[in-house]
Amino acid sequence: MTLQEFKTLCAQIEREYTDKISSAADLNAVEELRVAALGRKGALTELLKNLKDFAIEDKKAAGPLGNALKTALTAALENKTRTLAAQALNEQLNQVDLDLTLPARPVPAGRRHPLSIAQKRMTDILSKLGFTWAEGPWVEDEKHNFDMLNIPLHHPARDAQDTFFVQTGSPLSMVLRTHTSNVQSRFMEKHKPPLRIMAPGRVFRNDSLDATHSPVFHQIEGLYVDKNVNMADLKRDLTAFMKGLLGDKTEIRFRPSFFPFTEPSAEVDVKCVFCAGKGCNICKGTGWIEMLGSGVVHPNVLKNCGIDPEVYSGYAFGMGVERLAMMMMNINDIRTFYENDLRILNQF
Ligand code: DAH
Repeated sequence: MTLQEFKTLCAQIEREYTDKISSAADLNAVEELRVAALGRKGALTELLKNLKDFAIEDKKAAGPLGNALKTALTAALENKTRTLAAQALNEQLNQVDLDLTLPARPVPAGRRHPLSIAQKRMTDILSKLGFTWAEGPWVEDEKHNFDMLNIPLHHPARDAQDTFFVQTGSPLSMVLRTHTSNVQSRFMEKHKPPLRIMAPGRVFRNDSLDATHSPVFHQIEGLYVDKNVNMADLKRDLTAFMKGLLGDKTEIRFRPSFFPFTEPSAEVDVKCVFCAGKGCNICKGTGWIEMLGSGVVHPNVLKNCGIDPEVYSGYAFGMGVERLAMMMMNINDIRTFYENDLRILNQF
């Protein structure tokens, strides 16, 4: 073969395959053309075999020509493949009926539990009144749950009827805390006045479940200790708290009471929202619902925590989150909070 013949054949192959590639109908046709031109027995491959018989000068001229043609055909094949693939995808998309106006499927969203909502509203108000967050353990020793709070050994609150005792292997006698008041002893042991804390959390009592009782429920403890804190401060702050929570028109009353850890002690009642004070089965006919216990911190409690009651005084309160949530949300059965019926939870 002469160099001239080689050049002519190159030009022929180029023309023929460039045409064929550009008019190939589908990916199969492109692949067939690749084999026909560049495959082991392909037209260009066969042509290049002649190079070995060329004289050195001719080889130098013919070699680059053949390589350039190979590169050009490869590029043309790749281009065509890409174009055809894009066309195929477009056609496929055109065949599917895509209704872009169809609303998306709703993703079920979680939300706060009503008790969390209630607790947050309470702690939000308390923090505006200057209380900061504190916490204590659920599994507590009797010292912090009872003794330091001036609850004597034979006090009925320590009875197994009210208290869950736990076997822990600890040398101390352990209980599930019966109130958040354990945070009072825990906190005052470590921190000295002035102090003003709120301690929300879970508490445990050996009660059976009914419309107003649950063996596990929630309280928020409040404690304010400084110089000259007295009953008037307590009354002012709890009134502000209750009105903030239940509305300005809320009627409340302070009723003398007794707790071992406060002296004097008072319970705060709220005019029953279920019957507007007329008397119903929820307020047991009294027109009032007991909301929280409170009082001036007993000097023995301060002393037990290493605070001098001659210098400092304080007030404390403890309230049931469920109770208040029931009033806020007009729920008349405590079990509603624990059954997790989505039809109810979705309403808050
Ligand atoms: N610990 C009491 C209870 O669980 C509630 C309570 C009453 C807490 C008076 C106090 C308080 O801090 O001063 O029933």
